[in-house]
Amino acid sequence: MLPRFARAATRAQAKRRTLPSLLPSLPSSRTFSSTSSTSKPQSAWAEATESAHSVLTPPPSSLPTSAYDPLGAIYEEIGNLRSSLFNMLGSSHPSLDTVAKYYFQAEGKHLRPLLVLLISQATNGLAGKAWEDARHEAYGRNVDDALTSRGGVLNDWNPESMGPEPVGAMTFADPFRIPDPSTKSSPPPPTPVLTHLQPLPTNSDTPEILPTQRRLASITEMIHVASLLHDDVIDDSSLRRGEPSAPSTFGNKLSILSGDFLLGRASVSLARLGSSEVVELLATVIANLVEGEVLQLRATSEPEREPTQKGFEEYMRKTYLKTASLMAKSARAAVILGGCGGKGGEAGEWVKDVAYGYGRNLGIAFQVRRHGLLCLENHH
Ligand code: FPP
Ligand code: MG
Repeated sequence: MLPRFARAATRAQAKRRTLPSLLPSLPSSRTFSSTSSTSKPQSAWAEATESAHSVLTPPPSSLPTSAYDPLGAIYEEIGNLRSSLFNMLGSSHPSLDTVAKYYFQAEGKHLRPLLVLLISQATNGLAGKAWEDARHEAYGRNVDDALTSRGGVLNDWNPESMGPEPVGAMTFADPFRIPDPSTKSSPPPPTPVLTHLQPLPTNSDTPEILPTQRRLASITEMIHVASLLHDDVIDDSSLRRGEPSAPSTFGNKLSILSGDFLLGRASVSLARLGSSEVVELLATVIANLVEGEVLQLRATSEPEREPTQKGFEEYMRKTYLKTASLMAKSARAAVILGGCGGKGGEAGEWVKDVAYGYGRNLGIAFQVRRHGLLCLENHH
């Protein structure tokens, strides 16, 4: 591989000489902060990285940084996201409750929810009349409302939002009794105590994010963390984000089961968003994650000796399935919840494709950069 990267390094250096004049003058921000621009490159890899760094490091500017800091604009949303995730993951089973929440305790980047929230902010309102309809529907339904009117059917007690489970609330020793159709149907399932319908906001200066889009942001993080719980078992990882991993703390069995529990809760929340297209998108993400992981198992057990076009295609496919699919499809789902491409919002079809393409490219760039840095680390 090295000679190819050596050529890439030379090309990157040639580009460095031409690119700065083409780049717009960006403000400095923590997202772009540079490292060790003075250190000497020790290999073609290091040289290539050094070159990429100097291309990406913008010249200093006097413009205020906050206007360009995506986290700055959405900081409060991320804080709310964390508490909403804890709320969604309560279980009456203490060990499940602990393990399911374990990876949410560490400060993560929350890249996927961030993408959903920012895409929502950027595109809400573009669907015209369909946006108004989506808005009314999002505030008119509670994202926590059960879709069934038969209390007791769901068996989905969440102590975080419903309080402690009353003794005998769900009994299984007796057979299920089919109600007499002539009697009134049983009352609807208990409404979570911590949530209430939000009033439709009036004009405000900050771009609006719908409750359904916020919930979608939480769902993306739940699917991501479920995949990490499984991945740490497969990879036999002792650490995650510098802390002991879930399998090394609680064991493989509870880690796998907690990942499944997260997927279950994410699926219920997904259904309650009320869009079958969004359900379809996110359900295929789960299958894609598994397909990507299987491709990776094969690539690890039969590594390529020579770089080939076929190998590159496989690598990109695996990267899409494992990382970019979730970003691409959740970005697309966010604009659908904002009315794009819905009834009367056909013009929004294009916005859906733009959101998907953005998420997909971002996901691939994120993973390729990560692999590059890992190779660099291993090389040293
Ligand atoms: C991290 O990879 C892992 C993923 C991005 C996805 C893993 C997917 C599965 C285990 C399939 C099961 C999916 C679900 C939804 C239950 P990595 O090992 O390259 O990165 P790491 O260094 O963060 O572990
Ligand atoms: Mg791993």
